[in-house]
Amino acid sequence: MERLVCVNCGAAYPAEQILYNCTACGHLLAVQYDLNKIKVTKKVWNKRPLSVWRYRELLPVHIEPVTMQEGGTPLYHLKRLGDEIGLKELYAKHEGMNPSGSFKDRGMTVGVSMALQLKKRSVACASTGNTSASLAMYAAKAGIPAVVLLPAGKVALGKVAQALMHGACVISIRGNFDRALEMVHELCLSHGLYLLNSINPYRLEGQKTIGFEAIDQLGEVPDRFVLPVGNAGNISAVYKGLLELKDLGFIDSLPMMTGIQAQGSSPIVRAIRENLPEVIPETHPETVATAIRIGAPVNAEKALIAIRKTGGCAEWVTDDEILRMQRDLARKEGIGVEPASAASVAGVRKLVEIGAIDRSERIVCVVTGHLLKDPDTVIKQCEPPTEIDADLPSLLSALQL
Ligand code: F0G
Repeated sequence: MERLVCVNCGAAYPAEQILYNCTACGHLLAVQYDLNKIKVTKKVWNKRPLSVWRYRELLPVHIEPVTMQEGGTPLYHLKRLGDEIGLKELYAKHEGMNPSGSFKDRGMTVGVSMALQLKKRSVACASTGNTSASLAMYAAKAGIPAVVLLPAGKVALGKVAQALMHGACVISIRGNFDRALEMVHELCLSHGLYLLNSINPYRLEGQKTIGFEAIDQLGEVPDRFVLPVGNAGNISAVYKGLLELKDLGFIDSLPMMTGIQAQGSSPIVRAIRENLPEVIPETHPETVATAIRIGAPVNAEKALIAIRKTGGCAEWVTDDEILRMQRDLARKEGIGVEPASAASVAGVRKLVEIGAIDRSERIVCVVTGHLLKDPDTVIKQCEPPTEIDADLPSLLSALQL
């Protein structure tokens, strides 16, 4: 029912071909469905639990999926922060509530299922952390080995802990994420492991369900969808999914796709601002939000289309703005996220301040990963606990009562 199609030259390939780039022109591939043959109705979807697999007619998996009950994450109305920023309709979709604590699980339930469907017996990825944690978890569930490559010293503690505990073969390279991705790509091509970075078009299919769920939860299409951008897979995936919903006649408008990067690694923002045909990679990306410390986003070509075609925009935020929003989300809304996730909402604050967002807009921010992913960055921002003797007077004095 589906096939792989090059986003640049339109060359088509059978769905079962294991391919990460177009063999004709080298560009990215996307999964294309014959939407005329998809007979599902919204009513049928609405009867199923909110989850990735609610939308299975628009997913490429035809076997029993490898699932940990991913998706179905909460959509919170940010009342207090929204008031502060001047937005009545500001929402956060908390992807940190997925099984491994990030949105990557949506991609991996589909990606690892596809590995089995395509008869692959081992999987691999490069990662700034979350992809590796999620792949390790789903490979464990599937009972197949996983190899993950990390940039040494630049991955948050919780993510390394997950990859190790779930039993992946964890390799730290003395280089950054972009180099790790090149290496694992070569490894997969030469040794037949199944590559599950976002260059894999099937993995992104799972991630598009963030958009589907947000619309189902909101009851309508928001004016704007805001995502933190690293490798630019997620923003591209959400856009692709929404286009499919529109083609099916399930929605009649598209939100303005808006990407937020960290100032120290913002090649997409530059490409949008300077209206470049493609991104100029940054060789030394740097940010406290290590999840999005990426200089050469592999999905840039798809993301630029998503942003441009929907009249969206791209903006960067400083590390201080990211950390301030991480604290604000935690303390004013009770939402615990890792720094990269706070970038989306910090970006909204900045865009409102500079007048690029209208205050009447209904906005969904994706907050991508859980606070516990990066405990070091949390602890550094907080006062340590007050240690006291174990008696009541000491407690009262500590509380200044
Ligand atoms: N937020 C978090 C928490 C992430 O882990 C990532 C990407 C992003 C946002 C950006 O998403 O790459 O699709 O634009 N993390 C990848 C990883 C690169 O290896 O875990 P993107």
